[in-house]
Amino acid sequence: MPDKLNIAIFASGNGSNFRAIHEAIIGGKIRNAQIALVISNNSDAGALEIARGFNIPAMHISRTQYRSDDEFNATLIGALAKHHINFIALAGYMKKIDASIVGAFRNRIVNIHPALLPKFGGNGMYGMYVHEAVVAAKEKLSGATVHIVDDEYDHGIIVLQKTIVVEPADTAETLAARVLNIEHEIYPEAIRLFAEGKIKIENGKVIISQ
Ligand code: GRF
Repeated sequence: MPDKLNIAIFASGNGSNFRAIHEAIIGGKIRNAQIALVISNNSDAGALEIARGFNIPAMHISRTQYRSDDEFNATLIGALAKHHINFIALAGYMKKIDASIVGAFRNRIVNIHPALLPKFGGNGMYGMYVHEAVVAAKEKLSGATVHIVDDEYDHGIIVLQKTIVVEPADTAETLAARVLNIEHEIYPEAIRLFAEGKIKIENGKVIISQ
């Protein structure tokens, strides 16, 4: 077994993906992992409330509290070090992760995106905008993607994807709800694979052993 995953969740919103991962850990589906810290840029984030309910350290750290990017990023890095974090899962985090953090956690930061990347990703493609664009493009399929975080939005190597059919009657809202359900399946599954050491990244490619 590899070292235990000591995960920091970064979340700006409701935190349903965070909850799904945490439930998979406490329910025994994911072994060799724990969520040791939740960080949000948004003091009202549901994710912080959920974390406090589970007695998981929860921190509101926002760029607006600091005079410079450097000070902000140093605070994030300090918090990660203090909690011995060795893996980061972005779960609805609305801010770009600085290159200094990406560099310090190379191939150890993942994100979930509510579409089939590389389609419908990138700057401005978040939340309901993604599903509106999928419906407007009359896509037959959509889904969710777990990917490694690199220096560009929604760009890193794809780890897992699951596809669903876009029904003719779907609106952005109905599609979003179905995609969110599969996010809650594939995100814990991806974390499980990392925790069990079954994911290797070699030469820019993901190798998954079952
Ligand atoms: C999800 O749709 C995720 O794909 C996106 O942001 C949303 C977060 O939802 N990155 P939640 O806060 O986990 O409920």
